[in-house]
Amino acid sequence: METNHSFWNGFDTQTPGCYGLCCSGPGVWGGPVRETGLARSELCITTKYESNPVQQSIRSSLAKLGLKYVDLYLIHSPMAVGTDFESAWREFEKIKEDGLARSIGVSNYNLEQLQAIMKIARIPPAVNQIKLNPYNYAQNRALLEYSHKHGIVTEAYSSLTPITKYPGGPVNTPVKAAAKRRGATPDQIIMAWVRAKGAVIVTTSSKKTRLHEYLAAADIEPLSESEIAAIDEASARGPSGPISLQNVTKRVAICILCFALYRFYQFA
Ligand SMILES: NC(=O)c1ccc[n+]([C@@H]2O[C@H](COP(=O)([O-])OP(=O)(O)OC[C@H]3O[C@@H](n4cnc5c(N)ncnc54)[C@H](OP(=O)(O)O)[C@@H]3O)[C@@H](O)[C@H]2O)c1
Repeated sequence: METNHSFWNGFDTQTPGCYGLCCSGPGVWGGPVRETGLARSELCITTKYESNPVQQSIRSSLAKLGLKYVDLYLIHSPMAVGTDFESAWREFEKIKEDGLARSIGVSNYNLEQLQAIMKIARIPPAVNQIKLNPYNYAQNRALLEYSHKHGIVTEAYSSLTPITKYPGGPVNTPVKAAAKRRGATPDQIIMAWVRAKGAVIVTTSSKKTRLHEYLAAADIEPLSESEIAAIDEASARGPSGPISLQNVTKRVAICILCFALYRFYQFA
């Protein structure tokens, strides 16, 4: 693990399920994070609430991480708290007041759910961590605007989806053009697009070279209005572009084949 820029010294973990960092054994702080040589105060560690009583859950996460506090504690999804979101948020406010988390927030909340929390919150969520990439931007636009207006930071995950899941999709052309103009990579252009939308990217890589590429993304020239518009327009066509007759025929053929196989094995 290597970090060399304060902006990037953030770790997004999920306990007890744990992704991002392994939190078994001596705990994250006692293990790989300590190897960075950075002081605890130089790191920003996030973890998320999944289930069990809230107070028990944060204490168990802190024990597993080997920490006295986390910088950010998020409700992983509205489903984690069900309909009694008010009691859950009161517990979260207590966690902040007790100093177990510097900030509290939510994740995967849509506009209505965020508005519901804001209605009852004494301490508003600092962050809403959502899936955000060019292909789902339109449906998140109102949420982004509302969050911005209320000082809630939008953290974006799965932003590299156009590259990792839909390579060659409609967004590919304007992203590649912007990358070529700057001598940057497509990943860096998507990161610049996230920044242009006022969000903070949460990403990951198992490769040192890619981590360096991510770090350098902070220094590339911001996207112009026309470059952003080109990406937004292309993404409006969806990840696989307009539905062509050829695509529909292919999908129908696959369905017929699956049905035929099902009937064959049913009567064999
Ligand atoms: N709140 C939530 O519900 C939630 C859900 C999902 C994720 N998250 C958070 O978001 C973080 C990022 O998650 P994500 O995977 O969805 O993020 P992402 O930023 O969209 O993708 C990162 C992945 O893309 C791969 N990648 C990057 N550039 C590539 C390229 N040019 N070609 C091929 N592969 C490339 C990386 O693989 P390599 O390892 O090969 O570099 C890495 O595994 C997670 O670690 C987690 O902290 C939160």
